[in-house]
Amino acid sequence: MAPAHQVLVAIIGKQTGAGGVGKSFLNQLKALATKRPSPKLNLCYIGTSSKVLYSSDYAPLDMDTCLDSLATSSQSTLNLDGIVDYLGKAPSKVIMVDNTSNQAIAEHYPHFLARGINIITPNKKAFSGSYSLWKDIWTATHMSGAKVFHESSVGAGLPVISTLRDLIDTGDSITKIEGVFSGTMSFLFNSFAPVEGAGGKWSEEVKKAKELGYTEPDPRDDLNGLDVARKLTILARISGLPVESPTSFSVQSLIPKELESCSSGDEFMQKLPEFDSQMEDTKAEAAKEGKVVRFVGKIDMAIKEVKVGLEKFDKSHPIAALKGSDNIISFYTERYGANPLIIQGAGAGGDVTAMGVTSDLLKVLLHVG
Ligand SMILES: NC(=O)c1ccc[n+]([C@@H]2O[C@H](COP(=O)([O-])OP(=O)(O)OC[C@H]3O[C@@H](n4cnc5c(N)ncnc54)[C@H](OP(=O)(O)O)[C@@H]3O)[C@@H](O)[C@H]2O)c1
Repeated sequence: MAPAHQVLVAIIGKQTGAGGVGKSFLNQLKALATKRPSPKLNLCYIGTSSKVLYSSDYAPLDMDTCLDSLATSSQSTLNLDGIVDYLGKAPSKVIMVDNTSNQAIAEHYPHFLARGINIITPNKKAFSGSYSLWKDIWTATHMSGAKVFHESSVGAGLPVISTLRDLIDTGDSITKIEGVFSGTMSFLFNSFAPVEGAGGKWSEEVKKAKELGYTEPDPRDDLNGLDVARKLTILARISGLPVESPTSFSVQSLIPKELESCSSGDEFMQKLPEFDSQMEDTKAEAAKEGKVVRFVGKIDMAIKEVKVGLEKFDKSHPIAALKGSDNIISFYTERYGANPLIIQGAGAGGDVTAMGVTSDLLKVLLHVG
């Protein structure tokens, strides 16, 4: 029989490749479980879309060998209702860790929460999907008392969401949030339009970013601005704006109209150099004013406006001076006045993203431990 004073952890998504969150999280969980004698952190389920490993009597899985055992596991996969049912019947408190970017899992969160299953996740989909899903999630937490934390859904491990919630919960009033929310866009613009020097051609910078693994396999998935729009949707909703969806406000896509219909990412990359002059003009126009162009997200609370797209910044502005693929997020509030509270640092990577997830786990333990 499972020990009484334990918290069970179930992990969905275990990506082992470079930059993957699941493997980094498992390592951090292992270290935490060793350090914290009580409550004991035990793993009871780990799964991908094709493989699962779980103990039907909730006996702890060996965290050292679970990835190897998962790879050779012949257990039948459970559908989402099956996972909810399995975890809902557990003899202890449960934390479900969603390390995927899967929409269907995200839409199932209210069912997990309604059964008292706590959720931690870097997956943006639930919190930036339909507004009704957003409301269903928080209603389910209020009804059941289960917790949901998603720090890494914005800015990876950077403390963006917890800072915003702390500002609001302590009575400050948000006036504006502005920043660079995508490591890919940060890398592209820091090298395309650097503060010093001329920078490269747009298509060459996109190619370089793709080769270095900074873009999605099809770079259009970064250049369409949707990833940034999802993050802005989350921050706007936490700030009190009932944003309907990430496509319900102005989002500038950097995909030339003519290339939207390319049948593959490779075809897109091949044709992109033909459109370099468009981005070159934008860069030159900013340079004439002594500025540089950056891809930013902005929430203006006074006029209830959310916007994602290109903006020009003075070279001395913190957004212009960003390095590499860092994110920067500035919170303008009544208390902070004209000098915003700024959070800056790596906005992607397995280890830092998993750190946000692990810190969420610690927050859940404060409630259930
Ligand atoms: N990596 C970063 O730097 C970063 C930064 C911030 C936020 N995030 C977020 O963190 C999450 C994970 O990122 P990642 O880079 O590790 O993603 P990833 O490399 O795509 O890994 C996702 C994992 O989820 C599994 N999975 C997908 N669909 C599933 C399903 N229906 N059921 C069970 N397992 C499923 C995949 O296994 P199969 O391939 O076998 O299906 C894989 O193990 C995403 O939501 C991402 O947006 C990542």
